[in-house]
Amino acid sequence: ATGTEPQQNSGGVRTATRAAITAPHLRTDRWWLAPAATAAGLFAFVVYSTWRAFANEHYYSAPYVSPFYSPCLAQNCRTMHAGPNADLFGSWWGISPAIIILIFPLGFRLTCYYYRKAYYRAFWASPPACAVAEPHRKYTGETRFPLILQNVHRYFFYAALLVAAVLTYDTVLSFRDTHYRWGHMGLGTLVFLVNIVLIWAYTLSCHSCRHIVGGKLKHFSKHPVRYKAWQFVGRLNDRHMQLAWASLFSVWLADFYVYLVASGVFADPRFF
Ligand code: FES
Repeated sequence: ATGTEPQQNSGGVRTATRAAITAPHLRTDRWWLAPAATAAGLFAFVVYSTWRAFANEHYYSAPYVSPFYSPCLAQNCRTMHAGPNADLFGSWWGISPAIIILIFPLGFRLTCYYYRKAYYRAFWASPPACAVAEPHRKYTGETRFPLILQNVHRYFFYAALLVAAVLTYDTVLSFRDTHYRWGHMGLGTLVFLVNIVLIWAYTLSCHSCRHIVGGKLKHFSKHPVRYKAWQFVGRLNDRHMQLAWASLFSVWLADFYVYLVASGVFADPRFF
């Protein structure tokens, strides 16, 4: 259960059929800590990513391009030598090119099963925590507009695969020096490597991915390859929450690193 199923009784927990307990809840631990920490972490990331998405500068320093700005689909991108620039939007796109691309990873995370649980609890207190009644009188789960739109998650998963492929390409390109010669490595290359491993691990640990890989089968014994793949995805899926946070942190770090180097705060230390 995800905790998002509709409740039969629309009167919440204070209906006649439920035990008449006057205390708001019976938990004695610091149950509010997890939702409070979640709210602080997500809020900080939203503020940072909004600033960076609209900044429209300091997102490229050879050979690194910020994951917030890749691939560049507008002509106003200043990363023409960096990676897969398609210019699909041409020159009419006047604002930051990050806005075009961030919709996909944002949509993927916003509709993710884990993040849904996290922000329903942290921002809407619905419910605030296990065994803590929510303040709302009515609960319809995700059965109505707009929350029914959360079902588009499986399509965002396909988009996320493309985004991960592009970031993989950018990581390969980071094995060049500032003159685009191959076979070099800097601290940024390591940052990009850690990020891409975590991005793939988070993407493949998705519940939709697990269903696509191993769902709708009657007999695993007749599909040994899919069974193996499902076991692998299942192991990642066990860690979905941890991977969600780790990859959120690593994508922030990759972007912030590019920002620091591109804005001249420090020079990328080169190993060879
Ligand atoms: Fe979290 Fe799909 S369920 S990414």
